[in-house]
Amino acid sequence: MIDIDFLNMPDRDIRELQVLFSAEEIDKRTQELADIIDEEFPQDEPLYVISILKGSVLFTCDLIKKMRTPIQLEFIKVSSYGNEFKSTGNVKIIDSKIPNLNDQNVLIVDDICDTGNTGKELLSIFKNDYHIKKLKFVTLINKRCNRVVDVDPDYYGFEVDDKFLVGYGLDYIGFYRNLPFVGWFPQ
Ligand code: IMP
Ligand code: MG
Repeated sequence: MIDIDFLNMPDRDIRELQVLFSAEEIDKRTQELADIIDEEFPQDEPLYVISILKGSVLFTCDLIKKMRTPIQLEFIKVSSYGNEFKSTGNVKIIDSKIPNLNDQNVLIVDDICDTGNTGKELLSIFKNDYHIKKLKFVTLINKRCNRVVDVDPDYYGFEVDDKFLVGYGLDYIGFYRNLPFVGWFPQ
């Protein structure tokens, strides 16, 4: 059971939160994605999984547990100057100690591809900085209707329309990341 008093935010009522993707649905879809990604990458070479903090941590952990490809796990933190609902084009890597990725296979993992700014910027930074063998981008959620730049995840779990989502890593001002499902507040 969810501790309603703990999660209740001043301007949102947790009792209004609607489940969009249940823990079971996420688990099933994550297994499908893990199988697809295992097919995509060689099983006898390391795959560098680059998890974007903080939102993709839950998805990354569940995804890699289901994969058979030998992985190296790295985290990066990006800044995106916007408000809590919308990112801007000004995306920068602000904290990372990534090893040399020349001639390596790389999978970038994010919680959601929304405007696409984060994905587009990160893919171009990685392509510019390294000679990567195979570079793929996976997100749990694809909010294609909000896209402002030309990018699409190579793989994604679920497509949604223009809803602000919370849970399973996705936050509203830092809260709700620990919900085991993805939900939204109907307006
Ligand atoms: P972008 O707009 O594709 O650059 O996405 C940037 C970031 O915005 C994502 O990694 C999320 O952290 C955040 N974001 C976008 N849509 C949502 C949402 O519906 N809920 C919570 N965070 C979101
Ligand atoms: Mg976020």
